Amino acid sequence: MQVCFEVNGRDVEVVVEPRLTLADCLRHHLRLTGTHVGCEHGVCGACTVLFDGNAVRSCLILAVQAEGSKIVTVEGLSKDDGLTPLQASFRRHHALQCGSCTPGMITTAHALLSAEPDCDADRVREVLSGNLCRCTGYVSIVEAVLDARAAYKSGAS
Ligand code: FES
Ligand code: FES
Repeated sequence: MQVCFEVNGRDVEVVVEPRLTLADCLRHHLRLTGTHVGCEHGVCGACTVLFDGNAVRSCLILAVQAEGSKIVTVEGLSKDDGLTPLQASFRRHHALQCGSCTPGMITTAHALLSAEPDCDADRVREVLSGNLCRCTGYVSIVEAVLDARAAYKSGAS
């Protein structure tokens, strides 16, 4: 089937099998390998992307369901070659180790901070509870997200 949608501000057109997930479409057809795949059944959150502004698990969505939508992957969060304030905060706080969960963490946190730049630590933990990390223990991740709030409040995100 032919599917047309927007990815990171660019119109794309792909021909896919109806059963292909959006995650695999992004990675294998569009070479956007920043979106990671872990569990492939909606548990780990590694595959999170923005779908019309909402954080969703791209392993649970078929590529054909993206028809006409606007998708943003972790590659599309930066407006230039540099790190976003949220990404820089993850680096500053050592909020990643293997990096497997990191694109999903950052995409989920970006959606949260865009909607709720005043969120507190409990809210960050609640929203990120759907993103599993096997390495960091979460403390540094929560600190990184909290530290990035100022950039979202000031519009520098
Ligand atoms: S790969 Fe999609 S939630 Fe785990
Ligand atoms: S940094 Fe390794 S799974 Fe999170």
